[in-house]
Amino acid sequence: MVAETRLSTRDMIMPIFVDERIEAPVAIEAMPGQMRQSLSSLAEEAGRVEDLGIPAVLLFGLPAHKDEIGSQASDPDGVIQKAVRAVKDSTGLVVITDLCLCEYTSHGHCGLIRGQEILNDETLPVLGEVAVSQAEAGADVVAPSGMMDHMVGAIREALDVEGFDETSILSYAAKYASAFYGPFREAAESGFAFGDRRGYQMNPANVNEALWEVQLDVEEGADMVMVKPAMPYLDVLRLVKDRFGLPTAAYHVSGEYSMIMAAADKGWLDGNAAMLEALTSIKRAGADMIITYWAMDFARAHGR
Ligand code: PBG
Repeated sequence: MVAETRLSTRDMIMPIFVDERIEAPVAIEAMPGQMRQSLSSLAEEAGRVEDLGIPAVLLFGLPAHKDEIGSQASDPDGVIQKAVRAVKDSTGLVVITDLCLCEYTSHGHCGLIRGQEILNDETLPVLGEVAVSQAEAGADVVAPSGMMDHMVGAIREALDVEGFDETSILSYAAKYASAFYGPFREAAESGFAFGDRRGYQMNPANVNEALWEVQLDVEEGADMVMVKPAMPYLDVLRLVKDRFGLPTAAYHVSGEYSMIMAAADKGWLDGNAAMLEALTSIKRAGADMIITYWAMDFARAHGR
């Protein structure tokens, strides 16, 4: 009766990795309990997500072919476009697409490159094209995660010009250059060939910068904003929610998930209790939506 914070299955968004090269689900070693889905197993998995009462999925595509410019990202018959159609055709789920080049580029960076330099402005029209192709496939929400400056404005403009003014943007607005993305790089095969992402993702030491990043994205047309990772940045999450009042998502990322699963596996802590506590703290700090690999387990264990 006195609990101030209640977690609900309706708060959760389930991330799903879809791999075009496989025929059946494959376990992700660094993320115990998580699988990459094939294009043929995806609809069934999405059906399970929907039956559990989870409202939305966040889709990541792993293409068979990568190149310097990530051209598969906007191919109408690319993996993400096929995945969106499969989920939309078979469920009533809200489909959110990760919108980034890093899963599609041979060098693994989130933007186009020249030598070892990331070309922010040259990347913007490409992100616009990817957004349009995802919207054409049926995505309800596109979620740009590459932290290019002015990506939200470029994507909004591209979507509107093509008549997709109803497609929403969930911006990964305050995304930190985090060690907690480690297991994701196995899951999505998006490790980078040189350097790191500190040129475009944020310094963990900064909080004013996060508020500027969010403000710019809001001004450029973001409908929802995200703070990522979640638990190491609960202070940022609280400030973003209080200052902007927008629907605010937090991403409980791969490393946050895997470290609890690994400790639980060793018997060092109660994994179920730790995961509940982690997700409760994220909601308490202001998240309206929590992107978590634990969404289906939460729903199974705790219902709606
Ligand atoms: C791609 C992207 C990443 C994640 C989501 N989208 C990796 C990165 O930026 O390095 C991480 C998600 C996770 O760790 O669960 N830009």
